[in-house]
Amino acid sequence: MYISNRTRNLGTENAFVVLAEVNKLLREGKDIISFCIGQPDFDTPRHIKDAAIRAINAGKTGYTDSAGVYEVRESVARYFSRTRHIDCKPEDVVIANGAKPFIDFALSCVTDFGCGDEVIYPNPGFPIYESQIIAHGAVPVPLPLSEKKGFSFEIGELEKRITPRTKLLILNSPQNPTGGVLSREDLEAVADLAKSHDFWVYADEVYCPITYDREFFSIASLPGMYERTIICDGASKAYAMTGWRIGYAANPILAKHMARWMTNTESCANHIAQYAIKEALDAPQDETRKMVESFKKRRDLMVKLLNDIEGVRCLTPGGAFYAYPNVSGAVARLGLNSAEELRKFLLENGVAVLADIHFGRRNLGETEHYLRLSYATSEKNIVEGLKRMKEAIEKR
Ligand SMILES: Cc1ncc(COP(=O)(O)O)c(C=O)c1O
Repeated sequence: MYISNRTRNLGTENAFVVLAEVNKLLREGKDIISFCIGQPDFDTPRHIKDAAIRAINAGKTGYTDSAGVYEVRESVARYFSRTRHIDCKPEDVVIANGAKPFIDFALSCVTDFGCGDEVIYPNPGFPIYESQIIAHGAVPVPLPLSEKKGFSFEIGELEKRITPRTKLLILNSPQNPTGGVLSREDLEAVADLAKSHDFWVYADEVYCPITYDREFFSIASLPGMYERTIICDGASKAYAMTGWRIGYAANPILAKHMARWMTNTESCANHIAQYAIKEALDAPQDETRKMVESFKKRRDLMVKLLNDIEGVRCLTPGGAFYAYPNVSGAVARLGLNSAEELRKFLLENGVAVLADIHFGRRNLGETEHYLRLSYATSEKNIVEGLKRMKEAIEKR
């Protein structure tokens, strides 16, 4: 039977493929320390779980409006208004089963299939951007991130990629996989370009509470930008709720259209989880603050230990829970050709990491090699895993 081209060619998150490989080795009894996982290793805070239990007992178990329960959208609107310094109304908000569906909805709302509409997105970046752009029949335009700029991009590189067909720019800050955080100055320059060339911005801000050295700043906060920015955020990373599947987005023009895409796909977000995020967003943020403090300690430990390895150089990431070391020296030292070969070598030596190619094709002229390590794991694991990595790389 026929399988469509776009299904056969659909990309994926290769992290899940590596994860399956690691899990198989673990089942076979291999001793592996994994730095692959992209989720907090904390449990969902008690008060959020209790709110969900109360919702079940109160019979909050039916369908809701496709955009989400109104009083939950009110909480999300207050949260967006407070943290982005905008006037966000409940009518601007849509709630979905995770932040991920909004990538699909945003592309559906602002691009047409097969018409040459272009979408610019960060490279390296969350791989679902590229696979969804292609699946929507749009043209993917990767924007290289630069280690020299702390994994932001050169504004000139963005400018070069803008054409009359540019419909959407995807930003992700704090960023997966580099941990980079876009500065206010860069966002101001991007905002000027978005306004003068009249394109939409998708601001993927799912890691926004997890910043360490400076406060998070959203492009939507800049004058005239909320109208053209789809703010996307979610509970997965902020409240250790990856399996609850709940995310929220806002835009005053597109909300009603994204809600229709919800009606056409998921009907509505999980009713019980909606009440859980109402509690999460309305209550004091102490639990999230504690998680971020803990991530910060682990970040500092991991970066120090990575920089102790010959042939490895790691910037201090400003947010999220990923380190993105440059391993070009280690690749050369071991006589390998790529970070992917180094990843396989490290797996044989009991350490699981991801390689740069899991986050996009290599940029033209790219000569450096990178790994991604998640430090959403215990300090004990970080010490032991990095010891194995150092021994494996330096013994040869
Ligand atoms: C940059 C980025 N955006 C979106 C998501 C998806 O988040 P959610 O679990 O809310 O669907 C992830 C998950 O890893 C991510 O890293």
